[in-house]
Amino acid sequence: MKPELLKIAALAGDGIGPEVMREALKVLGAVEKKFHLHLSITAAPVGWAGIDAAGQALPDATLALCKLSDAILFGSVGLPDRDPTIPKEQRPERAALLRIRKEFGLFANLRPVQLPKALAHACPLRPERQGDGIDILVVRELTGGMYFGQPKKTEVIAVPDAQDGNLHPAMRAIDTMVYTTPEIERIAHVAFQAARLRRKKVTSIDKANVLENGVLWRDVVTRVAKAYPDVALEHMFVDNGAMQLVLRPTQFDVLLCENMFGDILSDEAAALAGSLGMLPSASLGATSGERTFGFFEPAGGTAPDIAGKDLANPIAQILSVALMFRYSFGRNDVALAIEAAVGKTIAAGLRTGDIFSAAETGARKVGTREMGDAITAAVAAG
Ligand code: IPM
Ligand code: MG
Repeated sequence: MKPELLKIAALAGDGIGPEVMREALKVLGAVEKKFHLHLSITAAPVGWAGIDAAGQALPDATLALCKLSDAILFGSVGLPDRDPTIPKEQRPERAALLRIRKEFGLFANLRPVQLPKALAHACPLRPERQGDGIDILVVRELTGGMYFGQPKKTEVIAVPDAQDGNLHPAMRAIDTMVYTTPEIERIAHVAFQAARLRRKKVTSIDKANVLENGVLWRDVVTRVAKAYPDVALEHMFVDNGAMQLVLRPTQFDVLLCENMFGDILSDEAAALAGSLGMLPSASLGATSGERTFGFFEPAGGTAPDIAGKDLANPIAQILSVALMFRYSFGRNDVALAIEAAVGKTIAAGLRTGDIFSAAETGARKVGTREMGDAITAAVAAG
């Protein structure tokens, strides 16, 4: 029987995007052979690359390709140096990334943070704080909260001058934090279901001591938890959560967050795992039948300062491929094979600059290409 065709849109984007995507595509090639898969991979421009090619951060043709695909493998977008040249609504972060999230209803963002034993030196925390290893799954709500709430605008208003009381024009920026019960319920279910496959604990993050949104979040999550009596639930204020992550990260299993808190805490958690260059991310929509449409990207940004220099760590992009097989294609076996290949390569001592320490014996500093080649070979040998 001919294997089912899996259609992947590969959107490399800007900065280090193209070079880490190149390595992920090598790994995909090895995976296709090894597992006798039938992949159709189509590249398309996005971000500044989209603006340069077709005048839009998300060109119509790229969006059309995504709609015809089973999953999107994404690099990263955004080049802050070029931002002043176009209005903020047209910049890649909003016009491509946020638009794709909304367009495809990708409400659930999963960011697995793991500190491999071999990388203990890359963790900024003292060894005793690392315990038996850090292993956290950040579940971030991705299509609500302050990122999308209306009104969202910057306007000119009149404010009284402190001295003379006369009215003077001033700018006012407004973002709106808004969540509905169903939005909180569906992301809470994702967190509890994920916890069942792990250590069965959910820490729900909010700011219920100040925000209306926090009170609703806490109520709804508490209610959803009743359907998961086998999973322990605790609530934590976001400021305390940020502190606990650096004091005692091993207490966390699944960290359930609204959009902005998840954005912030997932970067913090990634730093604990050695480097942002190690953190993959899956953004999932609703499941229909056997398939969940998904968007897979490294959580780090475009890192323009190191772009094109063979310095970037391709592991986050490669691990994003693993998440694509796990969550969108229902192939946990393929995901595990890719993760094992990454593990083997790290155990063999290969390190890109972000995870290299001269003090580590047996470690060898390598470039983007060499890291990608080694992982590809490990998949093939697997
Ligand atoms: C992320 C990024 C994005 C976000 C930016 C680039 C819009 O930081 O995916 O975490 O804030 O969601
Ligand atoms: Mg972020």
